[in-house]
Amino acid sequence: MSTQRSLLLQGPQGAFVVRDRPIPEPGPGEILVKIYAAALNPIDWKVRKYNVHLSSYPAILGLDGAGDVVKIGEGVSNFVPGDKVFFPGVYDSKGATWQQYALADAEFAAKIPSNISYDQATTIPTGLTTPYNAFYQGWGLTLPTKSAGGLGKYAGTPILVIGGSSAVGQFAIQLAKASGFSPIITTSSLKHTDHLKSFGATHILNRHNPLSTLAGDVAKITSTLPYAYDAVALPDAQQAVYDLLSDGGKLATVLPPRIPNSIRTKEGDGKVVHQVQAMRTIPGQEEKLAEGYRNWTEWLQTGLIKPQPLEVLPNGLNGIADGLQRLEDDKISGIKLVAHPWD
Ligand SMILES: NC(=O)c1ccc[n+]([C@@H]2O[C@H](COP(=O)([O-])OP(=O)(O)OC[C@H]3O[C@@H](n4cnc5c(N)ncnc54)[C@H](OP(=O)(O)O)[C@@H]3O)[C@@H](O)[C@H]2O)c1
Repeated sequence: MSTQRSLLLQGPQGAFVVRDRPIPEPGPGEILVKIYAAALNPIDWKVRKYNVHLSSYPAILGLDGAGDVVKIGEGVSNFVPGDKVFFPGVYDSKGATWQQYALADAEFAAKIPSNISYDQATTIPTGLTTPYNAFYQGWGLTLPTKSAGGLGKYAGTPILVIGGSSAVGQFAIQLAKASGFSPIITTSSLKHTDHLKSFGATHILNRHNPLSTLAGDVAKITSTLPYAYDAVALPDAQQAVYDLLSDGGKLATVLPPRIPNSIRTKEGDGKVVHQVQAMRTIPGQEEKLAEGYRNWTEWLQTGLIKPQPLEVLPNGLNGIADGLQRLEDDKISGIKLVAHPWD
């Protein structure tokens, strides 16, 4: 067992090919994971198309993985071989997840509880981390745990989530519910209404309505809006949501803020715009993110957080290129695409 199959991106905008590669050895603080399920994210097609985030080629992509621990590195005390885990990948040949084995940092991995499958677990890392970092790092809210005291703490505080059916949006809604926000207003295609309500949304606004109707629709539900989470972050919508915020309100966007500086710094309104990143390698975010990973097994076990719906791609690693094209073509609605590297 010294080689494995990996999906290699050969160059900028290049083709993907499956090749044999060495299986890495875990260093101090690392675990080696045999990956049974790996997820696709929009960033994966963006790095290929725009040649960003990758320092060399061939490159291996994939930022979410779930599987079994097969080896532990020196100093690892929270896992043993045989544990089922999910973890965030990184874009390098040892840590990316579109391959059969990858290394994970033991601090940023969590055990998969018995009610969750490998496929479901791999929907969690990027999807949950992105709003988690906004809520509990950027906005500085109290974690929704008994010990921290943040469960339901923000009862009666309204929040708007743009793009509730996106992967990131589905976890933002669930965190908002865990933290007690109410009402939880979201924009989505209306076919997702029942599902998003089951995750905690209280009001679903049709995302295909003209943006000019948003303010009126939100005003019918709440007279104040202290928090907004934009999981789509189109420039026009960012501006509209920013305008909707109450004075002192906080907006988090998944893409760089496009709101003109003159408005962002408008004297007296005190509004704050954050772009919060999922990647675990962002300096300053590690400690709170590691705390998240220490809690997520229990959150999944108790149903505080549920995985999003998913579709398993055919043809293992070879099926990923078609899945990426569907993401780029905006043909994915409400689900996470998942690949099985051993198929
Ligand atoms: N900063 C970071 O670290 C970070 C991390 C993760 C993701 N992102 C970015 O966040 C964005 C979302 O990622 P994702 O994985 O959540 O995407 P995704 O699940 O693939 O997004 C697809 C969903 O977006 C919804 N959608 C598209 N346009 C919309 C609009 N105008 N209004 C409302 N909903 C809309 C669609 O909704 P319907 O089905 O309802 O039509 C669909 O369900 C991407 O741009 C991604 O690159 C950033």
